[in-house]
Amino acid sequence: MAAKQSIVLVFFVISITIMTTTSSAKSFQAKNRAKGLDLGKETVTSIQFYFHDTVSGKTPSAVRVAEATDTEKSPTLFGALLMADDPLTETPDPKSKLLGRAQGLYGSASQKDLCLIMAMNFGFTEGPYNGSSISLFGKNSALNNIREMPIVGGTGVFRLARGYAAAKTHWFDPTTGDAIVGYNVTVVH
Ligand SMILES: *[C@@H]1O[C@H](CO)[C@@H](O)[C@H](O)[C@H]1NC(C)=O
Ligand SMILES: *[C@@H]1O[C@H](CO)[C@@H](O)[C@H](O)[C@H]1NC(C)=O
Repeated sequence: MAAKQSIVLVFFVISITIMTTTSSAKSFQAKNRAKGLDLGKETVTSIQFYFHDTVSGKTPSAVRVAEATDTEKSPTLFGALLMADDPLTETPDPKSKLLGRAQGLYGSASQKDLCLIMAMNFGFTEGPYNGSSISLFGKNSALNNIREMPIVGGTGVFRLARGYAAAKTHWFDPTTGDAIVGYNVTVVH
């Protein structure tokens, strides 16, 4: 009698557990749907802007925050790490319309060639992309004519973004290291 009761109890407990699991899975799916992530409609967006990286002068937009013991002896400044807060504008003219800012880190990652590793958030403050951002992470072989870097994510209208950025130096001052770089970004989101 006692054994029969406990078998019934175990069966009852298992049933309750299955019911709870199923209903919580359902409400989780419903919650995701409510947030409006419609994976069926992907959009391809192309954006063009100019990136102004100023390392010289009294108000640089990129500052060296770390380096290795021998960074200054390295022809590529291997180990130098910079934090940037660079304006993104519509044309190469620094006074042209501000579209957003590139904020993040880049560092010299190669002992032989000038090659940067970049981890940056491109946050937009204009037009339909105002408040949205894309994240770039990749290698920038700065001396190559055109560099391709992956776009690994985004926020706002760029949620779930993936794509690539093509960067081409528009202007570079070898004395100061200041640069203006054109970016063409293509993302699927
Ligand atoms: C961008 O969005 C912010 C916050 O919603 C708003 O204050 C600002 O006016 C907007 N800028 C433009 C140019 O629409
Ligand atoms: C970006 O695209 C324009 C044409 O739409 C082209 O003239 C320019 O060279 C491209 N820049 C890069 C970095 O690919």
